[in-house]
Amino acid sequence: MRIAVIGSGYVGLVAGACFADLGHQVTLVDNDEQKLAALQAGHLPIHEKFLPELISRHHGNNLTFSGDLAAAVRGSAAVFIAVGTPPTEDGEADLSFVESVARSVSGAIENYTVVVEKSTVPVYTSEWVRKIILRNGCSAQVFDVASNPEFLREGSAVTDFLYPDRIVVGADQDRCAAVLRQIYAPLTDGSYYRRSDIVPQPERAQIPPPLIVTSTKSAELIKHASNAFLALKISFINAVASICESVGADVQQVRQGIGSDARIGQRFLNPGIGYGGSCFPKDLLAFRSVAREHGYDFRLLDEVIRINEEQRKNFLRKVRSALWTLRGKRLGVLGLAFKGGTDDIRESPAILLIQALLQEGCEIVAYDPAAMERSREVLGAQVTLAGNAYEAARAADALLILTEWEEFAALDLNRLYNQLKYPIVIDGRNLYAPETMAAHGFTYYSVGRLPALPEPLADSVAARKLNP
Ligand SMILES: NC(=O)c1ccc[n+]([C@@H]2O[C@H](COP(=O)([O-])OP(=O)(O)OC[C@H]3O[C@@H](n4cnc5c(N)ncnc54)[C@H](O)[C@@H]3O)[C@@H](O)[C@H]2O)c1
Repeated sequence: MRIAVIGSGYVGLVAGACFADLGHQVTLVDNDEQKLAALQAGHLPIHEKFLPELISRHHGNNLTFSGDLAAAVRGSAAVFIAVGTPPTEDGEADLSFVESVARSVSGAIENYTVVVEKSTVPVYTSEWVRKIILRNGCSAQVFDVASNPEFLREGSAVTDFLYPDRIVVGADQDRCAAVLRQIYAPLTDGSYYRRSDIVPQPERAQIPPPLIVTSTKSAELIKHASNAFLALKISFINAVASICESVGADVQQVRQGIGSDARIGQRFLNPGIGYGGSCFPKDLLAFRSVAREHGYDFRLLDEVIRINEEQRKNFLRKVRSALWTLRGKRLGVLGLAFKGGTDDIRESPAILLIQALLQEGCEIVAYDPAAMERSREVLGAQVTLAGNAYEAARAADALLILTEWEEFAALDLNRLYNQLKYPIVIDGRNLYAPETMAAHGFTYYSVGRLPALPEPLADSVAARKLNP
């Protein structure tokens, strides 16, 4: 089928490449000339596993990049809108990019086309998109608006797209649902998974995935409610982590105990420095705002947001309590991206913490496997960027772990010990067992667990307790 995807960011690019891999003819559109030129020249503007392989497989065949929205829309069975929906100052979703695309799409539709909201939008947006398309002269006979929310996670976006837990299609007309069913048929009929050249199957894949057809309003709500619930899980375990710290319990054990209940599950129950990224913070604000607009005061979300902000402050307090004064302290920082596996630093808790530590007068030497270039744009020359994790740790008063990259969980601890001025590690992602760190000579702080002291130090503390 011919498909146009408008917006070639994290979602549009991944969706476009995956649709091409399913056998569709895809045109990816963007109005950012620099990004477009890079894509046309074969350079990927984002870091995402398996994306380079898919793009190089299909670029020039099933996949083309274009700045000409009208040409891409003409003759396409479906047009996916995947532009940004950032928050306004009041926390509402700024839908001006969506509106602008809807306007341009209107003039280009010739034959029956489904206009699909792929961007995360508040309930009722589909009605507005429909109105805008009609208002700009397109006949109601030749288009429908559907909602097909995207649940991919950065860092595993391609795998998430091709092995989804479910595909949600919000469609109020059968003809429109039929087009979306056909687009996803290679996944839902299982034919994609029988091919030999596919992206490897992850551990917990639901094959074939279910396709759930709902009303457009329900689909819009499903996306906001899903993100709000996931953020709630994170804030919940972070609140539990704070209690663990106060009473001397171990949040990892508590997590295992509660997460083993199939009704709860382990996923998104990782204590840390709070959620970030381009979705959860803005989607929670937008959901709260649209709920309020329709008469429901969603105070539960206020609390989720409050706990998340508090979690970063808790971590700062931990750094202070580990180092006493902060001015002039040199800190090695591992991680800038908002999560492992991506170069995205939008609303990254790591960046927010670094900015707070800079304000306190710390000197920061940071390393991230993928997000350094983007961070440089935000942090400027205030932060020194290191070539690897050990370089970041060199001569530092302490090492902070702020992003859960796999490589940060597999450091050579002896080498790390020799780099640091003082063997102090403050881990905001619980990547290590406290006993292991103590056995390697570190004073180790993490989230929801008691600090671990290096064995000789722990012995002397114990001795002091016995003979004060
Ligand atoms: N990033 C995620 O993990 C994720 C996951 C699920 C859903 N979403 C949602 O998907 C949407 C897009 O997110 P993203 O992270 O891909 O954003 P992004 O900022 O990475 O990409 C948006 C792209 O749209 C382009 N664009 C803007 N206006 C345009 C126009 N008029 N014509 C053509 N191109 C235009 C921009 O240049 C940019 O490249 C958002 O609503 C987001 O909430 C994001």
